[in-house]
Amino acid sequence: MYARIAGTGSYLPERILGNRELETMVDTTDEWIRERTGIERRHIAAETQTTADLAEQAARRAMEAAGVTAADIDFIVVGTTTPDVVFPNVGCLLQERLGIRGCPAFSVEAACSGFMYALSIAERFIATGRVACALVIGAETLSRIVDWSDRSTCVLFGDGAGAVVLKPSSEPGIIACQLGADGHYQDLLYHPYGPSRCPGPVFGDQEGHFIHMKGNEVFKVAVKTLEGIAEKMLVDNGVDAAELDWLIPHQANLRIIQATAKRLRMPMERVVLTLQDHGNTSAASIPMALDAAVRDGRVQRGELLLLEGFGGGFTWGACLLRF
Ligand code: UT7
Repeated sequence: MYARIAGTGSYLPERILGNRELETMVDTTDEWIRERTGIERRHIAAETQTTADLAEQAARRAMEAAGVTAADIDFIVVGTTTPDVVFPNVGCLLQERLGIRGCPAFSVEAACSGFMYALSIAERFIATGRVACALVIGAETLSRIVDWSDRSTCVLFGDGAGAVVLKPSSEPGIIACQLGADGHYQDLLYHPYGPSRCPGPVFGDQEGHFIHMKGNEVFKVAVKTLEGIAEKMLVDNGVDAAELDWLIPHQANLRIIQATAKRLRMPMERVVLTLQDHGNTSAASIPMALDAAVRDGRVQRGELLLLEGFGGGFTWGACLLRF
């Protein structure tokens, strides 16, 4: 039994923050941001919008594309690092909004690899026959944990959500998922506070309550890791890179993506890029890129896709699948 993507969906908040506007906020230029990252604009959630709001829109679109209703869903998993509240988890918030009762609903915290972790978990439940219809989501409101006065990070991130519906199939389907992590790199990319490490009386009021990143050092590990996991996935499954129809990578930096494509000898025409319009949306970036390419007709049924992500932790994951 395979788990197969029956439908995809995504949602971007209305407000667009372009590089030119960022020039008025911090000491940066449109040229620097485009050259160093490939990003031109990103979407920012409205003050009243939360991660669950974005996730709900993406989920409803994926369910519509898959032709399923809330009554069909029997598993909900959300990859996110920016949950609405510590608990109930975003999966439970979403379950209530969709009017579903009883099925497992939870979130997975693996930073930018959150969707890869969530997909891998849901795939196992489907492939072992325990679940018949899973909703798998990556959703973030990173703008809430970005220091808007720090030019080294605020130009990078955006908000959004992407979702897929997974169903069982005798045809592939997800062929393999591979996950990994290395906690020794904690000081290169982190958010310093949580409810259990909170020096002040009010969680969220501390100085430095933002994403901290040593970008250049993260960059080097990201390139090496992403190249390595892509190659391992292909070797382990006896697939040649030339057989891949699409590479759908985490959208953090164009130069990182180009390095992976070069290593696989894949032309950039077969790489789905959304970071110019979305920025880095962490766990939402891969499912949003997949949905964009499905909806504009690039990704077709039966095509062979390699999804891969890397993020804080460090965490990483890849998934080889027939769409
Ligand atoms: O999604 C999770 C994983 N995250 C990533 O994969 C991110 C990986 N890292 C990156 O994408 C890149 O390292 C960045 C885009 C964050 C930075 O690019 P870089 O080429 O590594 O730049 P850098 O950090 O080495 O900085 C180069 C220069 C510095 O100035 P000096 O010291 O050379 O004078 C920075 O102060 O660029 C300066 N700089 C900026 N200048 C204009 C840093 N940010 C900006 C900015 N505008 N926004």
